[in-house]
Amino acid sequence: MDPTTFRNMATILILCSALTSALCCDWLTHYNDLRNSTLVRVRSMKCPIATTTPLRFRDRLYKDMKTREETAQLHFIRGSLVQIYNLYRRGNTSTAGWDAWKTTDFLESINRQILELNECVKSTHNEATSKHEVYEKKMKRYYRYLENNTLLHPGGRDGWEMLRRETEQNLIRLDLLGNLIKDRRGQH
Ligand SMILES: *[C@@H]1O[C@H](CO)[C@@H](O)[C@H](O)[C@H]1NC(C)=O
Ligand SMILES: *[C@@H]1O[C@H](CO)[C@@H](O)[C@H](O)[C@H]1NC(C)=O
Ligand SMILES: *[C@@H]1O[C@H](CO)[C@@H](O)[C@H](O)[C@H]1NC(C)=O
Repeated sequence: MDPTTFRNMATILILCSALTSALCCDWLTHYNDLRNSTLVRVRSMKCPIATTTPLRFRDRLYKDMKTREETAQLHFIRGSLVQIYNLYRRGNTSTAGWDAWKTTDFLESINRQILELNECVKSTHNEATSKHEVYEKKMKRYYRYLENNTLLHPGGRDGWEMLRRETEQNLIRLDLLGNLIKDRRGQH
């Protein structure tokens, strides 16, 4: 390898490790399979249910996020996955009738995404603007609404399936948001 190439590579390495972790966000560039397998897993947990009540989807929140700066978007994706993860961890999944291995695999893949996203936002942690916090609050309020109207009412198997469906929709939207960031960066 010629010295210039080596120097360029070393520069990139130093940048990735120290200065701009958001720029070297592997979740965006290397983890399409992981993102896809999370979706495949949540779909595989689908169960037939007797009743379902329509829920409000937070379309507005995703529309607003599209125009935000990249750091806020990555924080939002990470925060949403944490909310999803906590709902499944805190709830009593044994009432859902899911295969325990499938549930574990699904949670594991969400958790791995969160770990990757931690790397993307860690150096930007203190740059959160007050506007960012407003969206964070809205997002948390949405997931509380979701919990109340699925796991708490009606609860049980139907409640879990309703939550699973909403989770699938949210994961699709989060994936689209991730692809939007990638397109803006010109990465494919
Ligand atoms: C996601 O994974 C499934 C199953 O492994 C595969 O059939 C599908 O083509 C994948 N989709 C994408 C977009 O990679
Ligand atoms: C979870 O649900 C199962 C099945 O309904 C029940 O037997 C168990 O006691 C519940 N566990 C908790 C911690 O509520
Ligand atoms: C929770 O949901 C129930 C039924 O959908 C509703 O009546 C109640 O007001 C909700 N509670 C909160 C705190 O949103």
